[in-house]
Amino acid sequence: MGVAEEMARIPVQVGAGYQVVVGRGLIGRLEAYLPKDVVRVMVMYAPALSEVTMPLAERLRGGGLEVHALSVPDGEAAKTIDVAQAAWQRLGEASFTRTDLIVTIGGGATTDLGGFVAATWLRGIRVVHVPTTLLGMVDAAIGGKTGIDTVQGKNLVGAFHQPSAVICDCDQLDTLPRPELVSGMAEVIKTGFVADRTILDVIWSGPQEALNPRGPLMPELVSRSVAVKAEVVSQDPQEAGWRAILNYGHTLGHAIELVEDYSWRHGDAVAVGMVFAAEIAVRSGLLDPSILGAHREVLASVGLPTSYQTGNWVDLLKAMGRDKKNQGRKRRLVVLEGIGRPVILEGVADSVMHEAYQAVAAVAAAKPYPASSGEGFNLENPYGQALYVPPVDTNEGGDKVVAP
Ligand SMILES: NC(=O)c1ccc[n+]([C@@H]2O[C@H](COP(=O)([O-])OP(=O)(O)OC[C@H]3O[C@@H](n4cnc5c(N)ncnc54)[C@H](O)[C@@H]3O)[C@@H](O)[C@H]2O)c1
Repeated sequence: MGVAEEMARIPVQVGAGYQVVVGRGLIGRLEAYLPKDVVRVMVMYAPALSEVTMPLAERLRGGGLEVHALSVPDGEAAKTIDVAQAAWQRLGEASFTRTDLIVTIGGGATTDLGGFVAATWLRGIRVVHVPTTLLGMVDAAIGGKTGIDTVQGKNLVGAFHQPSAVICDCDQLDTLPRPELVSGMAEVIKTGFVADRTILDVIWSGPQEALNPRGPLMPELVSRSVAVKAEVVSQDPQEAGWRAILNYGHTLGHAIELVEDYSWRHGDAVAVGMVFAAEIAVRSGLLDPSILGAHREVLASVGLPTSYQTGNWVDLLKAMGRDKKNQGRKRRLVVLEGIGRPVILEGVADSVMHEAYQAVAAVAAAKPYPASSGEGFNLENPYGQALYVPPVDTNEGGDKVVAP
């Protein structure tokens, strides 16, 4: 393990407030980030992180803490009532009190579960998240949304419960399988499109280097992306309005995940969803087609998909109808007026949705993007050209609602 180096501290101003620390080697000094009055710690970790967790648990014990290590099932299998119940049982047997602490080490599934257990034990004990996937670092571990799944769907049971700290140790991304890293990059690119153009420029400067967990671009991208989420969450902790902009690309993204029975990675589905949203924005006369082209190019440059076809448009549309941004029967969709200028579009017509879908599907039929075969990509003049200019012949786009 190398020398610990903090590269950024990003405040989240919700409740008492907390910090997201980004750096390298941070797990090697995790005790520095734990609240001082803690007696007992339960470390809930994904199996892939056992080699990281065991020495940490030993060290914390050496420092005088009572440490309980709880391995939870891999990935989404962790987010069940049975796993939560097993954790509650361990907390009860070990007499965890309100001043004790849960530490989560793993991807978004682990931090969602551990956050939920912390939110519910004694009506809320403290939790420190140590996300180890890119998606966990820039998204799941920040903002206090916790939850588990039920047979009716994902994340249906949960609570808002802010962590005491979030520690993003970029060294952990070294062991993350490449498809997980690429999928997480979709959320990074999303924050670039909705709020921080520099993120897109950094990726444009070298997409492969951007994906290098050891390279200098990774901590910068994580920090910038975290800063966007932290800012939005601080303004809208309970997801009452503005936080919806973080769902850019998620309306179609969630629908693809559902229709494909969760065989698609979340980030891959969101990537296609962003292209879809950009298609709608162009068709509604809100977005310059060159930015639509930039979506396709920047996403493809890191190997993310930009197109999708289904045999069943009706099911896909129905799945989009279940999106939580909708209000009553009114369809609401986050779109861009430009890079860093998200708005909510209300009442988009089915015909426009279908046209945008056809554009997303047609490109798949015409030609797979070079990145899907692992080849490099021409990155000149990123925002100045539209690779694909769709027919803009509609005035049925919908009503723009400028979010507060
Ligand atoms: N709470 C929120 O605001 C929020 C936001 C977005 C997503 N989520 C949730 O996050 C979950 C998805 O998170 P995810 O994409 O991180 O998936 P994940 O937690 O399932 O992790 C993906 C895989 O990577 C493995 N892994 C994790 N870290 C590793 C490492 N450093 N080295 C090797 N393997 C490692 C995991 O064991 C797992 O197999 C979903 O349940 C989703 O609902 C929550």
